[in-house]
Amino acid sequence: MSTQVAIIGGGPSGLLLSQLLNRAGIETVVLERATRAHVLGRIRAGILEWGTVELLREAGVGARMDARGISHDGCYLTDEDLMVHIDFRALTGRSVMVYGQTEVTADLYSAQDALGTTILHEVSEVEIHDLDSTRSHVTFTHDGQRKRLSCLYVAGCDGFHGVSRKTIPEDRRRAFERVYPFGWLGILSETPPVHDELIYSNSPRGFALASMRSEMLVRYYVQVPLSDRVEDWSDDRFWDEFSARLPSDAAARLVTGPSIEKSIAPLRSFVSEPLRWGNLFLVGDSAHIVPPTGAKGLNLAASDVYYLHDALIRAIRGQGTTGIDGYSERALARIWKAMRFSWQMTTMLHRFDGEDAFAAQMRKATLDHLAQSETARRELAENYIGLPY
Ligand code: APR
Ligand code: PHB
Repeated sequence: MSTQVAIIGGGPSGLLLSQLLNRAGIETVVLERATRAHVLGRIRAGILEWGTVELLREAGVGARMDARGISHDGCYLTDEDLMVHIDFRALTGRSVMVYGQTEVTADLYSAQDALGTTILHEVSEVEIHDLDSTRSHVTFTHDGQRKRLSCLYVAGCDGFHGVSRKTIPEDRRRAFERVYPFGWLGILSETPPVHDELIYSNSPRGFALASMRSEMLVRYYVQVPLSDRVEDWSDDRFWDEFSARLPSDAAARLVTGPSIEKSIAPLRSFVSEPLRWGNLFLVGDSAHIVPPTGAKGLNLAASDVYYLHDALIRAIRGQGTTGIDGYSERALARIWKAMRFSWQMTTMLHRFDGEDAFAAQMRKATLDHLAQSETARRELAENYIGLPY
């Protein structure tokens, strides 16, 4: 088999890159470890930065998002005494889109089917070779056969546990990491949202987030110890704890119901540098992980794809290698700023076991400052809606 760009991973990064490259006439093959159903069954975050919204529209996959997504002009940060509104629209002139990653992935698969691109599912034993040659190749097992895919470039869109990052020699890459001492227990429930905008609650009992997917589908989270398991949390226990962490007027409006999905996710900040190794380029979760507090995971994958698709198109069309030569540095500049924002939102809104009274005071003072300073609210808003590409 031969193609121009081999894409390892058929999640949001791989699919969006394949969509943009094929629309520009660049041939790709996507190699995905899981079945399509498994990929589409993943429940992930649901906030799209304005840059992601525009990129999806440019990729020809914005119609269903524009029809079913919900534009949000702001959100709330709260603790026991304060409910601070961050008015994105007034402070930055922009909004975000509430639209689940699952929906984005489904839209991308539909668009890829319409383009007739090549996506191989249930591939295994992927190995990447000859990255410092004019042509590289990827070997993999599919349908019980060992296969070889020749290509010009390889995009590593295979997530945190993929093979791409590990293909870069360990002594030639540098990892930066912060593992947080708690997780998020998330549920989906077919109930009306407790508020028309998101509420990030910094309660003395721990963090809670009231988000949504539609007018009748909510996505709620509570901070839990890493030792907790989903089985420890009945729906009743979740609703009681979630309600106790909300501001009282929001809790009074809470409509509870059965969970249709319940899971616990750990929180980590992670970056691996560089993003390029010869003909291999890392994209999205293969290169970086953010805690979900800042809603940056999918959005950072989108900006990586934005930079890389443009660079690969230019290189393949013979318009020079400036783009691919500068991809790692350009993408990392935006990644680190989103990393900082996500870390700051996480440390500002979560209670850390064993923290001293000073730490709690710092969180309270941060919220007090946001309540009083439009400048502070604007700084948060411009990071939340997404820094420019
Ligand atoms: N070979 C082929 N495919 C692989 C391999 C492998 N060795 N390892 C992983 N994959 C596939 C996974 O099955 C998954 O479908 O790569 C895909 C990676 O997708 P994601 O992990 O979703 O990463 P990405 O596409 O970068 O999207 C980032 O997804 O997980 C969320 O929070 C994250 O919102 C962020 C977004
Ligand atoms: C979600 O809706 O799943 C969501 C929203 C905002 C976040 C994290 C998750 O910061």
